[in-house]
Amino acid sequence: MNYTQALTEDIFQVIGKSADELGLEAYVIGGFVRDFFLKRGTSKDIDIVAVGSGITLAEKVASKLRGKPKVAVFKNFGTAMLKHEGIELEFVGARKESYHRDSRKPVVENGSLDDDQRRRDFTINALALSINKATFGNLLDPFEGIKDLERQLLRTPLDPNTTYSDDPLRMMRAVRFATQLGFTIELPSLQAITDNKDRLKIISNERIVDELHKIMQTPEPSTGFALLHKTGLLASILPELTALQGVEEIEGQKHKDNFWHTLEVVDNICKNTDNLWLRWAALLHDIGKAPTKRFHKKIGWTFHGHEFVGSKMVYKLFKRLRMPLNDKMKFVQKIVLMSSRPIILSEEHVSDSAVRRLVFDAGEHVEDLMTLCEADITTKNTKKQRKYKNNFTLVRQKIIEVEERDSIRNFQPPISGEEIMTAFDLKPSKEIGIIKDHIKEAILEGDIPNEFEAAKALMLKKGNELGLKIKSE
Ligand code: CTP
Repeated sequence: MNYTQALTEDIFQVIGKSADELGLEAYVIGGFVRDFFLKRGTSKDIDIVAVGSGITLAEKVASKLRGKPKVAVFKNFGTAMLKHEGIELEFVGARKESYHRDSRKPVVENGSLDDDQRRRDFTINALALSINKATFGNLLDPFEGIKDLERQLLRTPLDPNTTYSDDPLRMMRAVRFATQLGFTIELPSLQAITDNKDRLKIISNERIVDELHKIMQTPEPSTGFALLHKTGLLASILPELTALQGVEEIEGQKHKDNFWHTLEVVDNICKNTDNLWLRWAALLHDIGKAPTKRFHKKIGWTFHGHEFVGSKMVYKLFKRLRMPLNDKMKFVQKIVLMSSRPIILSEEHVSDSAVRRLVFDAGEHVEDLMTLCEADITTKNTKKQRKYKNNFTLVRQKIIEVEERDSIRNFQPPISGEEIMTAFDLKPSKEIGIIKDHIKEAILEGDIPNEFEAAKALMLKKGNELGLKIKSE
């Protein structure tokens, strides 16, 4: 079959011509071809395989392009990369690869297109379209990749044990593609992942996390996490999550399965936010529940302080996985730490002062926190569900009202420490802190508005109580 319509970019003509001049066969392969057949829109990352030197082909192509783009050559890998008009082209020579068990470093030999397709991860990623002039648009599909696209099946070209053992990252990629594309991993492949799961340890955490991020960016990450769990991969990547799995029963009292609950929360939040880090916060919001779980005869199961413990665990988890220890992590920690606050609010009468305190503590993240708490409602009891949702609507309304009145977010005290020092002719001392705190508390309680005059009057009153003398003018 011929698929010239996939190759509309002018660049393909240039590559084809260059390959013809060099007497090489050249093909576009991998994600670009897969996504064309899936009608996922044309990818701007294009992989080219040459039967011969990919580097020579890249250099020839670059010399023909306007602006003569620079070619980045990776000699060790036998690959070359160039960028042209928003497109990133990666060139590689067709190769045969064999691997040693303890390393990802293959022994590479030149090979035919067929050898090259064979060494790839999935049949749907091994589809190749010819770009030489005489055969432009011809499809080469030796492993029935098109059939697998139709069947929505992830299958490896070789025995799955070989494909996954050669490059264990592919186990993560299988789960990621299954989640992104809604495909099924065929049974022998799933079994091979389970059998090879321990080989993931030779893969760097950065690459594993990249795949986790991609799973987290899909509409239903639970699909991926369920697969990671089923194959046993999750226990080594995120043991904090698998520790949440299971229901214990003592004296007829059960708690919910916090692992499956968490996955439901993640799917829920994905309907309302694309913020990757808020999604991570949803994934991790209950991790403190495993180490804090206790059973009390009178009250049943408790998870006291799980939010605090959980937020501490976030740091360790990020560090272990080499995720950024920056404001993104702090954001996740803060959301985890505060994750029960609006829930407690929604169960009780929603008072202005409680809302003011919530806004004060959450600051600019208050909406994100509300989004998590709304996603956290997974009860199947429709009456309860309605009650919680209504209460959260009420909390959201009150947040707006309180904000309009008192501008609590990014709270700036209406009276500064300097002003207190001047008013009472004080040097830096603990009284200043006491007065500032008293004013802040009065504002949060709603005893005074967040305004200078009211705060000044309260400052003078409190100063008087503390025995301070007002400085004479
Ligand atoms: N590939 C592979 N094994 C890997 C990574 C990549 O066999 N561990 C092959 C596949 O044929 C893949 C191609 O290299 O299609 C390009 O890889 P990459 O750019 O990482 O992925 P894409 O398939 O293009 O998909 P995406 O951009 O969604 O990651």
